[in-house]
Amino acid sequence: MNGSSIYNSWNFTDNPFSAMPLLADSLGDQLFIGRDEELRRVGIRLTSSASAVCLDGMVGVGKTSLANIAAFRALRSYRANSRTSPLIIPCRRPFQVSPTETPDDFRMRVLTEVAQTLLERSSEFRLGLNMEGSVGLNAWLNSPLLRQWSLGVPIFSAGGGAQSNESAGFTSSGFSRTVISWLEAIFPDNQNGGVVCVLDNLELLETSAIARKKIEALRDTLFTVKGLRWVLCGAHGILQGVVASQRLVGHMQEPVYVPPLALAHAQAVFDARVQTFNAQNGSAPYLPFDADDFHRMYLIVHRSLRNALAYANDYCLHIAESGTEPRTKEEKRQRFDSWLKRMAESIRDAVKAQTGPRAMKLFQDAITQFDGEFGPGDFTTLGFKSVQAMRPQVKALEEVGLVEAQKDDVDQRRKSISVTGKGWLVHWCILTHGS
Ligand SMILES: Nc1ncnc2c1ncn2[C@@H]1O[C@H](COP(=O)(O)OP(=O)(O)OP(=O)(O)O)[C@@H](O)[C@H]1O
Ligand SMILES: [Mg+2]
Repeated sequence: MNGSSIYNSWNFTDNPFSAMPLLADSLGDQLFIGRDEELRRVGIRLTSSASAVCLDGMVGVGKTSLANIAAFRALRSYRANSRTSPLIIPCRRPFQVSPTETPDDFRMRVLTEVAQTLLERSSEFRLGLNMEGSVGLNAWLNSPLLRQWSLGVPIFSAGGGAQSNESAGFTSSGFSRTVISWLEAIFPDNQNGGVVCVLDNLELLETSAIARKKIEALRDTLFTVKGLRWVLCGAHGILQGVVASQRLVGHMQEPVYVPPLALAHAQAVFDARVQTFNAQNGSAPYLPFDADDFHRMYLIVHRSLRNALAYANDYCLHIAESGTEPRTKEEKRQRFDSWLKRMAESIRDAVKAQTGPRAMKLFQDAITQFDGEFGPGDFTTLGFKSVQAMRPQVKALEEVGLVEAQKDDVDQRRKSISVTGKGWLVHWCILTHGS
């Protein structure tokens, strides 16, 4: 039985606890809870400046979703009033940079996705949009070049790959020129919006020195292309090191900090998912736990939304496999609590088998003294003689997934190490059921 068929049999259309980012569409918008202040800030930044918006926050906290929904709502404002709102078009996919990809390859990947996005949107824009404010978009939609591309388009038919279009006589540079000319036609100056491209998970580049170099290398190929609006997302403060680059001055905005979603929103996150995925087939949807159980778990994992959703899904799979479904509120609470306890204990035991007592002491001290977020510079408070002495213990905790750390050679004071949702679960287990 796979995940979605369990949910189908429980009268849902799909898995309500997917841990994937919310997309820039009406489904994502419906599931998006809270964050009014962050949405307002990101919306203003996206529409008022061509420099990159930077979102800094813990892994899995909701950065990509925030960027997508801010872009989606900006497009909605444009649809409502194209005279007063700039045209913001969310790119259909987020991007990640890899340490090995060249700036040219990355640029080609971005322009391919941007071209796909524009083509997908073109028919929608052509139909029934009031475009009084968008002379550029109108001109582009009516240009012979677009018509020619939308008719033949062998370049996109095989799922990207600009190189495959030899027959139509486009070289890859011809392709970039075409896409850039589209962007210039639609967004003739930098004031009237752009295609929003999200550059995700910069922390995967590991050190802020590497991330800075990478972004600097992309500066002239991407940040200067008219009609693209960038949102950069990174965890562990990695963006602080990037925005500090002198070579990026004017291209990057100061990071917006994305805090965990407030505890008070946990119930609404749960309810929105239950409502949205309700199959409405005449039978009430069933779940083996309630909104307040989800709320409790969100609290235990220290407001790591991705972890809370993933554990909710694991629990549902466990119940489905067990063959007996709790029915009453009390039964559900008991089953959920005993599952959570057993899962936490097994993670705790696996972690203990792989990690020494010194690392576990560091883990506990990081929680009690720093609320789970610390930097290499905190070594004395954490009982080490030097940064070097602390490093292997951090690494040991990282290997078992209790903390996430950014190796940072720039600023030792930055809180670049943080306890993960799994770490908070283990902490809860030790507190409530002993070590
Ligand atoms: N405001 C929100 N309301 C409801 N669900 C949300 C919200 N924000 C994020 N989520 C959900 O939380 C999970 C994590 O979100 P997202 O992937 O956007 O986080 P992230 O910070 O980009 O993670 P990462 O650091 O791994 O890139 C996703 O399943 C998403 O659907
Ligand atoms: Mg993300």
